Order: sequence, then structure tokens, then C-alpha cells
Amino acid sequence: MEDNVIILKHPLLTHKIAILRDKTTHPGEFRRIVKEVAVMEAYAALRDVPTIDVEIETPLEKTVQPMVKGNKLCFVPILRAGMGMVDGFTEVIPSARVGHIGLYRDEITHEPHEYYCKLPDHLEKMEVFLLDPMLATGGSAIDAVKMLKAHGAKKIRFVCIIAAPEGVKAFTEKYPDIPLYIGALDRQLNDAAYICPGLGDAGDRIFGTIK
Ligand code: PRP
Ligand code: URA
Repeated sequence: MEDNVIILKHPLLTHKIAILRDKTTHPGEFRRIVKEVAVMEAYAALRDVPTIDVEIETPLEKTVQPMVKGNKLCFVPILRAGMGMVDGFTEVIPSARVGHIGLYRDEITHEPHEYYCKLPDHLEKMEVFLLDPMLATGGSAIDAVKMLKAHGAKKIRFVCIIAAPEGVKAFTEKYPDIPLYIGALDRQLNDAAYICPGLGDAGDRIFGTIK
């Protein structure tokens, strides 16, 4: 496994991802847990963001402390399912910017198709966190990074909740320098390119659109 692949290990994380995997978890609870998982992943993925020294005054004296410049961070969910992770990240850093990339996966070919892109200006000066709960074939994440780079992004991290080995391989072969944060690495893809054991279709489970 590449150095840039960080598989997060914490009993609370595996516990909460197990709740997401459970097919009886209803959309309201599913959304709440996705947000909680995103908060935990945010702490890990933000651990090496740059800080600046800021002078503040405690009740006792002046002091200089390192602080994170939120407006230099940009969180970019891949629509739809990535939306579920944004609340967790913005809860930790409310002043961060948020961009949106809309991609859907063709049910037959499993190829991603772009339908929306709105990103903040000056992406080249920001630390960009691309968010999507699922890394399956890797096609969507790879295309989203291509879009971010086309808009000037230079420092990109990708954060997902569940990944398949096939997606990790495809992503790291294409972008060996982009850190990939994973909540759980699953066994494999099935014939329909769904992650097994997985959690099903993340977007449908977050938004309650299961047929
Ligand atoms: C899901 C998921 C990823 C993508 C992963 O989105 O949220 O974006 O599939 O698959 P890949 O790694 O094989 O590209 P989907 O296209 O189902 O859209 P949705 O979020 O609107 O449901
Ligand atoms: N997209 C999902 O939402 N789930 C999968 O298992 C694969 C792709």
C-alpha cells in the first residue's frame, strides 16, 4: 500500500461505519452517522494543514498561538453523496469555503458523467479536500481531481468512508501524490461495481431515494 493511502483505524469509526452498513439504518440516522464519521475523518485529514501564528489575550496574558486559516481551506463534495460529509467538515472549520462537483455513474458502463461544477476562485492557493463516501472503481474521484486541477488546485486530499481495493489502485496509479484517507477498506467490487460488503448506494441511502 502506498504511503499516501491512510486507512483510519479507530473502534468508534468502525462501529459507526457498521451502523451505515446495516440495511435497516434509515435515512435520518444514516445522514447523522455520515456526518459523525466525517467529523472524525476531518480531524485526521486536517492534521497537517498549515497554521499561522496569531496573538491572542487569555484572561492572564498575551500569547502567540498557531491557528488554522479556515478561508484557505476548501471542501468539495462530489454530488450527491459527498454532500453528506460536508456538514461534518464545516462543523470543524466553519469558515472554510465549499465547492461542488456533480458527477453521476452510468449504471451500465460505470463511467462517471459530469453535470455540475462550481468552485471558489483562487483554488491554487487553497488546501482542497475532495469528499465522497464511496471509492468504488475510482472513476468519479479521478475525474473530480481532473476538474479540480483544471481549476488550478495544487494541494488536494481525497477523503472517503469506504473504499474498494480496485478504486484505491486506480486512484493511486493516476495520482500517487494525492493523500487518500479511507474509513474502511473493503473486500472487492461486485459485477455491478458496488463495493462488497459496502453499504449499498450511498446517495440513495442518504437521501432516501432507494427504489
Ligand atoms: C457514487 C459515489 C461515488 C461513485 C463511486 O455516486 O457517491 O461518487 O458512485 O463510484 P466510482 O468510484 O465507481 O466512480 P453515484 O454516481 O451513484 O451518484 P450519487 O451520489 O448521485 O448517488
Ligand atoms: N457507489 C455507491 O454509492 N456504492 C457503491 O458500493 C459503489 C458506488
